[in-house]
Amino acid sequence: MDKQTYITLADGNRMPQLGLGVWQATNDQAENAVHTALDNGYRSIDTAAIYQNEEGVGKALSTTSVPRESLFITTKLWNTDQQHARKALTDSLKKLQLDYVDLYLMHWPVPEQGHYVDAWQQMIELQKSGLAKSIGVCNFQPAHLLRLEAETGVKPVINQVEIHPLHAQLELACWQKCHDIVTESWSPLAQGGNGVFDSEIIQALSKKYAKTPAQIVIRWHIDRGLVVIPKSVTESRIIENLAVFDFKLDKSEVLAINLLDQGKRLGPNPYTFSRAD
Ligand SMILES: NC(=O)c1ccc[n+]([C@@H]2O[C@H](COP(=O)([O-])OP(=O)(O)OC[C@H]3O[C@@H](n4cnc5c(N)ncnc54)[C@H](OP(=O)(O)O)[C@@H]3O)[C@@H](O)[C@H]2O)c1
Repeated sequence: MDKQTYITLADGNRMPQLGLGVWQATNDQAENAVHTALDNGYRSIDTAAIYQNEEGVGKALSTTSVPRESLFITTKLWNTDQQHARKALTDSLKKLQLDYVDLYLMHWPVPEQGHYVDAWQQMIELQKSGLAKSIGVCNFQPAHLLRLEAETGVKPVINQVEIHPLHAQLELACWQKCHDIVTESWSPLAQGGNGVFDSEIIQALSKKYAKTPAQIVIRWHIDRGLVVIPKSVTESRIIENLAVFDFKLDKSEVLAINLLDQGKRLGPNPYTFSRAD
């Protein structure tokens, strides 16, 4: 396998640019998928307390021969725990069978709850105590990010948001780059394609590079400088999704895929998402 690439976060920590997502995987599926991924060269895993599969991820992590310092493990603070971040992270660590996570993310701002700044302050303390090496957020908009920095003096190093060719988020990614915040793409494959894989440009690039449509889309994220975490519980796809470091899209090809953007979200709108169950 060609060498995978890493991104340096504003706090100096490095993270793999490509990782495995495990949303909607059961504990058993997550355990198998993480085993397969680590055996085939992945080093970054993205889970969350709300996925209810941290135990499965933890089982795989506890038996892998990959040294802990080579792994990059992310989990997330769920909305209903925003006032209890330390307990939430401690519970996650127990399930993951880890002493620390590499990245702890606040899952949603849920502005109507009014707790996200307080939660961020707690996460700053968790980082100081070494339980999380880096801290960041998901689904934050610039207004939320600016408020965190203004009120705590600490900026998230990463914002994980919905990005795929139907929702390219060009402005947000550009704004975050100017603010030294790394952009990480969730649902990077548009949740299995949603028509993207059949589009003319993806088909043409797939032929040109002799790569699958999913590999072309993953490479589009990487060549935009984003971190990307495609999910799969299928061994062949887990392997396929990492085999993207032996080719590169040129700038005009990245721009051509950008033109598929329809501003079409597949997930909730972060301004209004208020699920707190
Ligand atoms: N922070 C947040 O709010 C948030 C929200 C959503 C997701 N996420 C994170 O982002 C990760 C990825 O997003 P996602 O799970 O929504 O969707 P995704 O990665 O865009 O797509 C996953 C789907 O694509 C299929 N797939 C994977 N590789 C494929 C390939 N090479 N060819 C064809 N189909 C393929 C998978 O099927 P199989 O599994 O059956 O192979 C699955 O159905 C999640 O797992 C999670 O870690 C975060």
